[in-house]
Amino acid sequence: MRTFHINLKSTPKRSVIVCRRNVLSKQLKEDLPRLKAGGAMIFTDSNVFSLYQRKIKALDLPVFVMPAGEEYKTEQTLLALLKAMAEADLRRCSTLIALGGGVVGDVGGLAASLFMRGISCIQVPTTLLAQVDSSVGGKTAIDFCGVKNLIGAFHQPVYVYADPDFFKTLPPRELRCGLGEIVKHAALNGTLFDKLLANRDKLFDLGFLSEIVPENIAIKAEIVCKDPNETGLRGCLNLGHTTGHAIELTQKELSHGECVLLGLLYENRIARRYLATDEAYLDALESLIRTVLVGDLRFDAEEAARLALHDKKNTAEGTVSLAVPTRRGEFAFLKLEYSNYVKALKEIGKAL
Ligand code: NAD
Ligand code: GLY
Repeated sequence: MRTFHINLKSTPKRSVIVCRRNVLSKQLKEDLPRLKAGGAMIFTDSNVFSLYQRKIKALDLPVFVMPAGEEYKTEQTLLALLKAMAEADLRRCSTLIALGGGVVGDVGGLAASLFMRGISCIQVPTTLLAQVDSSVGGKTAIDFCGVKNLIGAFHQPVYVYADPDFFKTLPPRELRCGLGEIVKHAALNGTLFDKLLANRDKLFDLGFLSEIVPENIAIKAEIVCKDPNETGLRGCLNLGHTTGHAIELTQKELSHGECVLLGLLYENRIARRYLATDEAYLDALESLIRTVLVGDLRFDAEEAARLALHDKKNTAEGTVSLAVPTRRGEFAFLKLEYSNYVKALKEIGKAL
């Protein structure tokens, strides 16, 4: 078992991240008397519920199940969940347990932040992506008006319980999605980068992935501790995401993690055009991305660039803001005029 703490100036005062096995049958069982005393509800999605319903039902807490998938990360799901929380008589002292991937974590976290102006949330991430990234750090959101994560809040979970046993039921594609965020962390941390390169043949191995989850959480937790509300440094966790989010909206068949990988690939090449970079390092990073990413590397650059103009990270009209890799463990913030950005995406796509 490994535990990490994110110390905060706001409430909660800290977020505790526990990496351990048997979370449903042991950790939550141990927590049950406290949870029942304050009132609690489990929020999950249809896939996770059907896979784990025996253990979920054994907890004997009210359960709300959303349909699985990014297309349901909507205001309708959020409102239906809030209604279920009200009907379950949750109170200020109650806890919402978000049991699922990043979609459940984001919607559940947002509902917890809104209900009675904020109740406790426990994140139980069941995908690789959610364990290494989305459950940690308190970002919550729904997609709105065709923009990814347009409505959201910072709401730190009181606990995150990361259990690698959940990986046993994950389809291989979901491992690739999680690897998208892991490669992003590696682009920010030289030690993890070297480890991934040295273990290229093990990237889809459950044992190896379970071993590197705590390392990834530690990388993210350290950044979140320094800048919980993304006033500066935390923006580095958006590496690959400006382009990635835009691709996600145009290529509905691709998942978030796959789009992050594709975004990282393009933004890696954009960095070389505009900044003094370490070419050999960026070549190695690109080869790592290509080890994980499969399928067509091209997309509608015009449409993606138009959508990137609406990204939350942009600060000036007609410009696109990016966080790009430059050297081993280093990154830079880059602001591009729309015309330069669209030109770069088109040319990179042609050259791939
Ligand atoms: P997801 O939640 O859609 O899960 C992917 C699929 O795996 C779903 O079909 C789900 O039902 C299924 N699943 C979940 N756990 C399973 C298990 N143990 N066994 C079998 N199937 C399982 O997607 P995701 O990749 O986990 O998360 C992507 C979302 O996370 C995006 O909406 C993205 O915007 C968000 N995100 C948020 C943050 C943040 O900081 N808040 C960071 C990164 C990504
Ligand atoms: N996934 C980006 C962040 O948490 O800041």
